[in-house]
Amino acid sequence: MKIIVLGSAAGGGFPQWNCNCRNCAGVRNGTINATARTQSSIAVSADGTNWVLINASPDILAQIRATPALQPARAVRDSGIAAVMLMDAQVDHVTGLLMLREGRPLPLYCTASVWGDLNTGLPLAPVLSHYCGVLWHELALAPGGAAAPSLQVPGVEGIRFTPLALRSKAPPYSPHRERPQVDANISGDNIGLLIEDTASGKTVFYAPGLGAIDPQIEAVMQSSDCVLVDGTFWRADEMIALGFSTKSAADMGHLPQSGEAGMIAVLDRVKARRKVLIHINNTNPILDEDSEQRATLARHEIEVAFDGMEICL
Ligand code: MLT
Ligand code: MN
Ligand code: ZN
Repeated sequence: MKIIVLGSAAGGGFPQWNCNCRNCAGVRNGTINATARTQSSIAVSADGTNWVLINASPDILAQIRATPALQPARAVRDSGIAAVMLMDAQVDHVTGLLMLREGRPLPLYCTASVWGDLNTGLPLAPVLSHYCGVLWHELALAPGGAAAPSLQVPGVEGIRFTPLALRSKAPPYSPHRERPQVDANISGDNIGLLIEDTASGKTVFYAPGLGAIDPQIEAVMQSSDCVLVDGTFWRADEMIALGFSTKSAADMGHLPQSGEAGMIAVLDRVKARRKVLIHINNTNPILDEDSEQRATLARHEIEVAFDGMEICL
């Protein structure tokens, strides 16, 4: 299978429109060794022609333009994107749906919780019903960490998807944001995805928003050939320390890389052949390729996703 990283930045992209932090100013005026990035999204295919778009970022049109493989042009109006799958209902992962409104009815795979948000707090589904229309397929989750049913997407042969409930955060506009669920683990506000090539058996675990790692999620990470996971923040108090926000990484549903129980420590235990961070916030020092934090990642054999990165398994 092939995965193309269409966008590797967190919400706001890099540089962010209104931000003059060291990274954003530095990439704008070329004073740091860094590359601009669009907001996080990937595309997955086994045959290189038919793709599942995973998350639809506000940058989707630029991402499609930059990725000729998504445009096989088999008819006057055509796209290689056969379906869209959502990891959550965050603004940076869903608003690109509006940009796909000229096409055929859009097959959309997401949990009941995300579908609820897209029909109420951020009513993209009712809006799109006046354009292409959306064909919802529920991503059902199994309770108690049991293996959820896996599924295949019609038209995208050779790839199997298994949704896994995660601890992260529903969007700020969602009624679930601060409402504790009976079992937050099966709330379905945020999922990760085990993506398997049915021919080779190779697997990728994808989770751009991962606030805390339960044992069953770590077990999936252990058995995956590649993990493509939350790289939002280096520090737990990154936004607070910069004076940009009063929210910690945990408040926003993201596990920072540094710290004794941070993502680096988790990934050190994981045997996956490739460990890649995605959904990187513009404040994160790892965006500066000459930073000591980036060197630390390299020592731990952790890669940083970039727009256009291809992962073939
Ligand atoms: C997040 O990942 O925490 C959100 O995308 C933040 C945002 O919407 O800007
Ligand atoms: Mn985000
Ligand atoms: Zn910035």
